[in-house]
Amino acid sequence: MTYETDSSAFLARLKQVGGEVEGMLESLLAAAPLPGEIARPARLLDAMRHGVLAGGKRLRPFLVVETARALGQTGEGPLRAGAAIELLHCYSLIHDDLPAMDDDDLRRGRPTVHKAFDEATAILAGDALLTLAFDVMGDLPTHPDGAIRAALCVGLARASGVGGMAGGQMLDLAAESAPAPLDAHAIERLQAMKTGALLRFSIDAGAIIGHATPHARASLSRCGGALGAAFQIADDILDAEGDEAKLGKRAGKDAARNKATYVSAFGLDQAKVARDRLVAQAEAAVDEAGLGESGDILRAAALFIAARTN
Ligand code: IPE
Ligand code: IPE
Ligand code: MG
Ligand code: MG
Ligand code: MG
Repeated sequence: MTYETDSSAFLARLKQVGGEVEGMLESLLAAAPLPGEIARPARLLDAMRHGVLAGGKRLRPFLVVETARALGQTGEGPLRAGAAIELLHCYSLIHDDLPAMDDDDLRRGRPTVHKAFDEATAILAGDALLTLAFDVMGDLPTHPDGAIRAALCVGLARASGVGGMAGGQMLDLAAESAPAPLDAHAIERLQAMKTGALLRFSIDAGAIIGHATPHARASLSRCGGALGAAFQIADDILDAEGDEAKLGKRAGKDAARNKATYVSAFGLDQAKVARDRLVAQAEAAVDEAGLGESGDILRAAALFIAARTN
């Protein structure tokens, strides 16, 4: 029996890693200032904690931890790298929900940060989480080798900055008022940037920490690209037909805001075909990485991404 044939084994593993990630995030968001910090203002820290703790699938840290584990590396390092990516992801959600962006009031089943606090505090909580992500990634306990830590920091920057997540968010917003609907290529690029880049980097980070061979690294990176694309199409499908209570966020917002998505361009049926084709591509790329049975968990993650309900 493998993770692929027994989804409850996969879910149990996701839960276990999620619990470890939660503990790490909790300690990174503790009240005591770190050496070099002056103080951690309670209101800002509370807003950061609201945006990070208690909720979220923790899929990005899971991918870091499991990719590293498939390559024989376990322990605090992969967990910290995963937590760094999760902190950055949570910042992207806080800013994504702001009135100036998607204007959402519900996230992970709770009021969004700007609703629970205020807009200025939500902007600052995002800023501070983005900065903390690089602090965590770059600090010694993440990896003893400074060159590896530098590679992780550069990879995170490239995945999340102007040429990655932030750039993709710009394209996403611009598309709302574009004079003509985006074509398939433009939608794929937008989604690869706003969502795919950070998911792909999660697998890349595990491969960097796990000292993957160049061949395995390239295959795993292809897996991450396909998995990231499938993930955003699944998110768009859930927005169109998902259950708000299960999602923990509003549904039906993409159509209301004229978002450029696979669903808006091609309809739900075609979107599902595209999602499933990408999942198959992700699975094939894991096969090519040559990890044997250790790769089963990543194949199961690809299936989970397509089948998820939140
Ligand atoms: C939601 O990401 C935002 C997108 C990138 C589509 P997730 O679906 O991973 O959100 P959480 O972290 O589980 O809440
Ligand atoms: C958000 O995409 C992607 C990022 C936060 C970078 P969406 O706007 O579709 O995410 P949800 O649906 O609000 O979670
Ligand atoms: Mg958005
Ligand atoms: Mg949104
Ligand atoms: Mg969405």
